[in-house]
Amino acid sequence: MDAAVTDGVATLPLDWRVFDDAPPLVAGEVQLVARDIDDDRAVETDQTLLNDAETARAARLKIDRHRRRWIAGRALLKRLLGHYAGVDATDIRLGYGDIGKPYLKFPEATGIQFNYTDSGGCLIYAFSRNIEVGIDLEALPRGVRYALIAPRKMTKTEQRAFEQIPEHLKEYAFLACWTRKESYGKALGVGIRYPMNEVTLCEDYSNAIHAINDEANGCHTLMQIKPPFDGIACLTVKSEFVCVNAFEI
Ligand SMILES: CC(C)(COP(=O)(O)OP(=O)(O)OC[C@H]1O[C@@H](n2cnc3c(N)ncnc32)[C@H](O)[C@@H]1OP(=O)(O)O)[C@@H](O)C(=O)NCCC(=O)NCCS
Repeated sequence: MDAAVTDGVATLPLDWRVFDDAPPLVAGEVQLVARDIDDDRAVETDQTLLNDAETARAARLKIDRHRRRWIAGRALLKRLLGHYAGVDATDIRLGYGDIGKPYLKFPEATGIQFNYTDSGGCLIYAFSRNIEVGIDLEALPRGVRYALIAPRKMTKTEQRAFEQIPEHLKEYAFLACWTRKESYGKALGVGIRYPMNEVTLCEDYSNAIHAINDEANGCHTLMQIKPPFDGIACLTVKSEFVCVNAFEI
């Protein structure tokens, strides 16, 4: 499978199709669903899908645009989980792991795993059956201070690879590396609460796929993803190989 390369960063060759054509989610597959949430969606309708805790969380978001986006994103998550689990979105119940990773609490025993990421109102959801997933997106433009962050969050091996990147491509490469690190942490369920500068995940920007196998966490595969909007993303799966199908909704 040939990788696509943008600005020196290889990504999985993906064909983003319309979600209406999505086939059922099968074992060994991850379905990505991307959406650029706009602010004018039917927030009143979406809000009816939120429970009391979610409504309270939305209310804590003081910036109108952020609150509307969060409500729309959470409502869409429940609609998508309803679709995959074969129940009404109003019946979906979420639970949370020790460090906040949400999981499908009801209906039980579906095997459906998911994770999602939001960057500036652009969302990507990842769904699988019985495969732990983590996804991170960094939408552009960002203006990230990579020169400060790279020495603190990258391993020495990653820093050496990063130094080889031409200056004008450095921000994009840094964000690619960051999405690898965050998606890996999200697959583990710890988010960015792990020693990022001790785990090498990005030593070769020309390779869209990176495998890591360690005693504590088992085997994970990281796949660099080019989203259907301006930015860079990474999907991590707790598995050796998966088929990735991508949709826009
Ligand atoms: C998870 C984390 C990486 C998200 O950072 P972010 O830049 O907001 O990232 P994204 O938009 O990509 O992802 C957010 C989503 O990740 C999911 N998520 C939250 N905690 C998670 C975890 N521990 N593992 C995996 N996924 C997690 C949620 O679905 C969240 O969406 P929500 O906020 O709408 O519920 C970051 O918050 C983190 O490391 N949390 C760990 C726990 C922690 O330190 N919490 C204190 C935060 S105040």
